[in-house]
Amino acid sequence: MDTKTLFKERRSVNFFDKNKPIDETLLKEVVDMAVLAPSAFNLQPWRIIAIRTDAGKNRLVGLANKQEKILDAPVTLIIIGNKDGFADSNPVWDEMLASVGGNTEMVAGAKQAATFLYGSSEDRKLKFAESNAGLLAMSLMIAAKDKGIDSHPMSGIDFDGIHKEFGLKESETVVMLIGLGYFDSSKQLFPRRPRRLFEDITTII
Ligand SMILES: Cc1cc2nc3c(=O)[nH]c(=O)nc-3n(C[C@H](O)[C@H](O)[C@H](O)COP(=O)(O)O)c2cc1C
Repeated sequence: MDTKTLFKERRSVNFFDKNKPIDETLLKEVVDMAVLAPSAFNLQPWRIIAIRTDAGKNRLVGLANKQEKILDAPVTLIIIGNKDGFADSNPVWDEMLASVGGNTEMVAGAKQAATFLYGSSEDRKLKFAESNAGLLAMSLMIAAKDKGIDSHPMSGIDFDGIHKEFGLKESETVVMLIGLGYFDSSKQLFPRRPRRLFEDITTII
């Protein structure tokens, strides 16, 4: 699908066809394409919980304002940001060390910079986790659409409730949910609402 069509045709689909599954191979293809999203220092401070079973959906739906699409969508992703993604424990640092030919000084400098930039306050840590995982979220919807899969982002949810129910770490934050599936063509989608354009949102300095 060309990029313009992809942007035009991606919609937040409220109604998913319950009878059209997404198998794990296809889900993996979507995720493995989406992780090409950029992230600070390539730290990729994110992970995903993919809810595919009825039991999982039932645990989630009550924590998402009972949004029916969670029951209908074959998969709903919980997008999780890692507020400590700059820490030593992130395996990306080892990969970075290997890619710079074992230059420990360079990696130590990058770690120090990342810790200062993203770890020096709670506000910065949250910004770090949410901005990076937010880019992953958009990437996932684009990668899905490229494969003909519709999506629906959701943040009308109980963030703390989901955090607790799915046993997230203290350092993790729920960023949003993304329903994935195929539009139920027996239903009607609202026409797309207009966007505010360049002159409305852009200041040139
Ligand atoms: C971060 C985010 C959270 C959203 N949360 C919800 C939600 O909880 N429930 C819902 O019905 N729509 C939700 N939406 C969908 C928006 O209403 C939708 O993207 C917007 O109206 C534009 O429509 P379009 O995506 O079809 O272009 C959310 C969208 C985003 C980006």
